[in-house]
Amino acid sequence: MSSYDDLQKLKERILEAEYQYYILDAPQLTDAEYDALMLELLAIEKEHPEWVEATSPSKRVGGFVAEQFVKVAHYGPMLSLDNAFNAEELRDFDRRVREMVADPEYVVELKIDGLTLALTYEDGVLRRGATRGDGQTGEDITENVRTIRDVPLRFLTPQQTLQQTPQQMPRNAVLQTAMQARLDIRGEGYMPKESFQRLNTERMEAGQPVFANPRNAAAGSLRQQDSRMAAQRGLRYFAYQVLQAQEMGFTSQSGVLEQLRHWGFAVNPFMKVFGSIEDMIEYCSVMETERHSLSYDIDGLVVKVNHFAHQQELGFTSKSPRWAIAYKFPAERVETTLLDIEISVGRTGVLTPTGILEEVAVAGSMVARATLHNLDTIRAKDIRLGDRVLIHKAGDIIPEVIRALPEKRSGGEREFTMPDMCPQCGLEVVRLNGEAAHRCLNPHCGGRRREVIIHFVSRDAMNVEGAGPALMTQLLQQGLIEDPGDLYTLTAEGVASLERMGTRSAQNLLDALEASKQRGLAGLLFALGIRNVGVKAARVLAMHFRSMDALKQAGVEELQALPDVGRIMAQNIVAFFEDPASRRLLDKLAAAGVLMSVSGPEGADGPEDETGKDMFAGASIVVTGTLTRWDRRGIEELIVRGGGKFSSSVSRKTTFVLAGENPGSKLAKAESLGIPIYGEAEFVEKFGVSGEFN
Ligand code: IVH
Repeated sequence: MSSYDDLQKLKERILEAEYQYYILDAPQLTDAEYDALMLELLAIEKEHPEWVEATSPSKRVGGFVAEQFVKVAHYGPMLSLDNAFNAEELRDFDRRVREMVADPEYVVELKIDGLTLALTYEDGVLRRGATRGDGQTGEDITENVRTIRDVPLRFLTPQQTLQQTPQQMPRNAVLQTAMQARLDIRGEGYMPKESFQRLNTERMEAGQPVFANPRNAAAGSLRQQDSRMAAQRGLRYFAYQVLQAQEMGFTSQSGVLEQLRHWGFAVNPFMKVFGSIEDMIEYCSVMETERHSLSYDIDGLVVKVNHFAHQQELGFTSKSPRWAIAYKFPAERVETTLLDIEISVGRTGVLTPTGILEEVAVAGSMVARATLHNLDTIRAKDIRLGDRVLIHKAGDIIPEVIRALPEKRSGGEREFTMPDMCPQCGLEVVRLNGEAAHRCLNPHCGGRRREVIIHFVSRDAMNVEGAGPALMTQLLQQGLIEDPGDLYTLTAEGVASLERMGTRSAQNLLDALEASKQRGLAGLLFALGIRNVGVKAARVLAMHFRSMDALKQAGVEELQALPDVGRIMAQNIVAFFEDPASRRLLDKLAAAGVLMSVSGPEGADGPEDETGKDMFAGASIVVTGTLTRWDRRGIEELIVRGGGKFSSSVSRKTTFVLAGENPGSKLAKAESLGIPIYGEAEFVEKFGVSGEFN
C-alpha cells in the first residue's frame, strides 16, 4: 500500500529524470528504470484517482479525449515576422535598426520549423497550452501539450533546490518571482526528424497517408483528440519568449533565454549574440550549411535586437516587430519530370494550366503540382510534356516551374496546346483580344460555378466561417445550391445530410450564413466577383455609393472618376448590372435579407460621426499597449478608414493616445505633453465603435 507521500516522491523522481534526459541531455536513469517508475506511478494513480494532479508526469502518456478544441484568446497578440531572403536584406534591416538605436546588439536564434505554442503557467503550474490560431485566438490543446516531454508541467519546488547540483542551481534562484505571477511562455513545438521518419514508416505500413513534412506531422499530432495519440508522436518544444519578461525586470532577450533554461525549459543551444552585422551574416551562412546535420528542421534564423530598451524604441509596424526579422533560407531548386498538364477553370472562366509532376520534396514538403500560369508562359519557357524541369517554391510557398532542361530531352517530349473545349462544361474556349488567358465564356459552366461560390463565401468577401471549398463542392454536387443566392435557402436537414456533416456543424454553417447577411456593401461587392473589382475597389465603391441601388444607376464616367477605378473596371461594373443573370442573383440575395447597403459604424465606409464626416478626420492617433477588441492591424484599419492617421510615436501633433493593457513609454510621453489619453472603454463609448477578435 503506497502513501500519498510516496506518490509525491515518485513523481519528483520522474520529473527530475525527464529534466535530466530532455533538458540537460544527461540521463541519470536507463529507459527501463524510467519506464518502471512510470508504470508504478500509473498503478498508484489507478488505485487512487483522487490523487491525480495536473502536474503528474502520468500526463505525459495522455489519456484525455477532447470532444473538440475550445477557442481561447491569447494573453497578447502572437505576431509574425518580416522576412529577409539574403545578406543584403539583413544589412537593410540593420540600417533601419541603426537609424533608431545606437550600437544595437543582436541575438540570432534558429527558426525552428514547427508550430508556435503559447504556454500559460499559473503559480508555476502549466495551466494552458494553445496553438497560434490567427494570432489573437488559438485552440486550447493543453492535454496534448502536457505530453511533450520537455514542456515543464511545473517549475521545481523550493525544497528541491537543496538537492540540486550547482549546475542546476540557478534555475531555482528566480523561482519565487516565477511562482508569483502568471507567466506566458511562447516557443515552437516540433517533431524531430527521427520521430517523423518513424511515424511515416508506421503509417505507410498501416496503409495510412504519410505526412509531407515534420511541421505538418507536429501540427496533426497536436490536434489529436485523444492525447494518448499525441503522446506517442515524440514531440518536443523550444521556448524563446516570456511575455512578462520586462515586468519581471529582464532587460534582454539573451537574459530571458538563459533564465528559461534555468526554469527547466528547453532552449535551443545555437542562439548567439552579435555586435556586428557582418559576423552575424557569417553565422547565418554557417548555420545554413549546418542545418542538415541538426536533428530537427529549421527554415531559417531569427534575428532579434537583444536589449528590450532598444526593442521598445523600435516598436512595431502594423503586423510585425521592427526589432526582429526572419532570415529565410533561399528557395531550394529541384529537378523533376513534367508528366502532364491539367487545366482548371477559374471563377471568371480563365483556364489555368497546372503541371502534374513526378513527386519530389521541395523546401520541406512533397510537391506534385506546380502552376504554369498560361499558354504564353509555357511557350516562352518552351516547356514540353515529358520534359525534365526545374521547380522551386515561389515565396517559399507556391510550387512553380522555373524552366525546362532541354539538354535532357530524349525526343519523346510533346508540345502542349490549349484545349478548344472547356474541360468542365465542354463548350467553346476563346482567347480574347490582348489577353494572355484562354477563357470559358459559359456562365453556367460547372467549374466556374464552384469557384464563384468559393469566392463568395471567402474571408474578404462574405466571410462565412466554416464554408470551405470541400463543403461548397459537396453542396453543388448534391444539387443543394447552384449559385451564391441559394446558400441562403439551405436548411439544416439538407446540410446535415452531407457526408461528414453532423447536425451541429450544419447549424454552425447556417448561423455563419445568417451572420454574413449583415456583412455590408463592400464585402458583398467583392463577393459578387465583378471582374477587376478587388477588395480595395469594392470599399471605394461602397463608401461612395452607399447602396447597391445607387451603384446600379452609375454610368462609366461617374465610376471612372473615383479613385482606384479605371475605365475597364468601370465598364465591367456597368456590364455586370446590365446582365440579367446578375440582376436575378441580386434579387435573390435581397429577398434572402442580405444587406444591400453599407453596414453600421464599421461598414465599408469606416466609422462616422452623426454629421456623416469621417470621425477621425484629421486626427493623429497613437495606440499603446494591448487592446482587447482589436489587434494592431485591426485598430490601424479602423483609424485609417475613419479618416485618421495611425502614428507610431507621440509628439505635440498627436490628437490623442489610445491606451490598452500594459501601455509602453508612449503613455508617459503623452502625459508629459498633456495630450488626451483614452482607455479602450472610453474610446469605444466616445466614438461608438466596437471591435472584435478576428
Ligand atoms: S520570434 C514577435 N523566435 O517563426 C516574436 N519565432 O513569424 C515572433 N519561430 O511562427 C516570434 N523559431 O513560431 C521567434 N526562435 C524563434 C522562432 C520563431 C521559430 C516561428 C514562430 C512563428 C514564426 C515567426
